[in-house]
Amino acid sequence: MQIQWYPGHMTKARRAMQEDLKLVDLVMELTDARAPLAGRNPDIDKLAAGKARMIFLNKADLADDQATLAWMDYFRKKGITPIRLDARKTNFKKAVVDGVKIACQEKIERDRRKGILNRPIRAMVVGIPNVGKSTFINSLAGKTAAKTGNKPGVTRGNQWIKIDKQLELLDTPGILWPKFDDEAIGMKLACVGSISDEVLNMQEIAYHLLSYGKANYNQLFEARYGAVPQPDDERDNEIVLWMENIARQRGCLKRGAETDFDKVSAQITDDFRSGRIGKVSLEVPKQA
Ligand code: G4P
Repeated sequence: MQIQWYPGHMTKARRAMQEDLKLVDLVMELTDARAPLAGRNPDIDKLAAGKARMIFLNKADLADDQATLAWMDYFRKKGITPIRLDARKTNFKKAVVDGVKIACQEKIERDRRKGILNRPIRAMVVGIPNVGKSTFINSLAGKTAAKTGNKPGVTRGNQWIKIDKQLELLDTPGILWPKFDDEAIGMKLACVGSISDEVLNMQEIAYHLLSYGKANYNQLFEARYGAVPQPDDERDNEIVLWMENIARQRGCLKRGAETDFDKVSAQITDDFRSGRIGKVSLEVPKQA
């Protein structure tokens, strides 16, 4: 699958983020709970060197709970405080503030030794497009969040949002460009909708989802789409046969009862992205 990207945007976003990072103590990185590694850009480790770190496994409402627990363990072992999240909810402020205290323990201690008490932690949210950064900031800030106004050194008109007396958040998230070193990563990002649909082949995505679903979440996929058909000598690709069945069930047909693969592929992809198939993760941590 050929995926296009735009180095110009990427360079600009990276530069803006480097400037903002100078202003913060803590980097709150969002990734997609369904594909936490594919949904990150490993450059963040270099960019955020020396900063306290948290990772939010967002859209956990759509991910396999077992896989999410395994990922939390994975990140904890890497020294990054993990929190699972549905950013559309507004009930996670306490978990975030508690997590901040753990992630910034060293800085809080350092401040205390210098006699600085209760200086708020300053944080910024980063992540690839569509991972839920704006949703997260809005939910965390809530309606009553007071903006503390521009601070010296902020050149792009960024504002600090006061989350509570211990935490201030930069209102503009940092955009990380997805990094698809290999096709498998690109495909996972495509499945979760982190790459613009205009540059994708929807049929390939749907084909991948069905193959992956059959291998890993057979029950969920068969409950939604019916049993995987048996191939025969003439027609040996069971995934294509399955797609044709689904298309028939849903009336995704062209004139002459021909399968409309584009239409059925769009429906399967949308089913996955909106969680109608069930809670499905696209990767699990490799066993150590
Ligand atoms: P971004 O700033 O990182 O680019 O992402 P943004 O907040 O715009 O979120 C992208 C989409 O993901 C939005 O859906 C948003 O509602 C959805 N979303 C964010 N967090 C979660 C989550 O934890 N769970 C689920 N299920 N969805 C989440 P949209 O369809 O593009 O917009 P809308 O119609 O919901 O407004």
